[in-house]
Amino acid sequence: MKFFIDTANLDQIKEAQELGVLDGVTTNPSLMAKEGITGKDNILKHYVDICNIVDGDVSAEVVATDFDNMVKEGEELAELHEQIVVKVPMIKDGVKALKYFSDKGIRTNCTLVFSPGQALLAAKAGATYVSPFLGRLDDISTDGLNLISEIRLIYDNYGFETQILAASIRHTMHVIDCAKIGADVMTGPLSSIDGLLKHPLTDIGLAKFLEDYKKGNS
Ligand code: E4P
Repeated sequence: MKFFIDTANLDQIKEAQELGVLDGVTTNPSLMAKEGITGKDNILKHYVDICNIVDGDVSAEVVATDFDNMVKEGEELAELHEQIVVKVPMIKDGVKALKYFSDKGIRTNCTLVFSPGQALLAAKAGATYVSPFLGRLDDISTDGLNLISEIRLIYDNYGFETQILAASIRHTMHVIDCAKIGADVMTGPLSSIDGLLKHPLTDIGLAKFLEDYKKGNS
């Protein structure tokens, strides 16, 4: 399972990279705005800064919603750095753009996916990654994890190579549940990765080991 961090915050990206388990980064226009990154030039520079911190894939989202401009923006993003994956929304022109990029060998991440049918279309169009937003489904009392399971079943039925990137992860249990289902990738906040570390018995056990060591060596 690949671990991506879902942020445009460089300090958090560095922290996750230093832990040694980071496989990539996802961003979106809201995450960029949250970090105060505005204006096309600053946004493009920020993507390159992120690529220079991590070893893996970095999703950069197009903001155009028509085919011609999505293609123009996506090609510009892809040329920024070899680690860039062009993030395209699940709309009709987005599906056309996914197919166009796939035919040109440009890697893509189909975003804002909320149903198995949308995920099927993204795979048919040759998306590299599909991003079902499980937390946002949970927010409206719909089972987000069930969507991940349905997509896993459909992709396995036909051997689609599109990787399931479980997105909108909110907490550590989402990560564990997605791993059980077989999501290829998860993207979440740093806290969802850090949470995997924690167990009180680990802390109690370590304190006891260190105490006994001190007793025997003083
Ligand atoms: C995915 O690529 C999105 O950036 C993201 O996971 C959205 O998560 P949110 O629902 O927490 O905003």
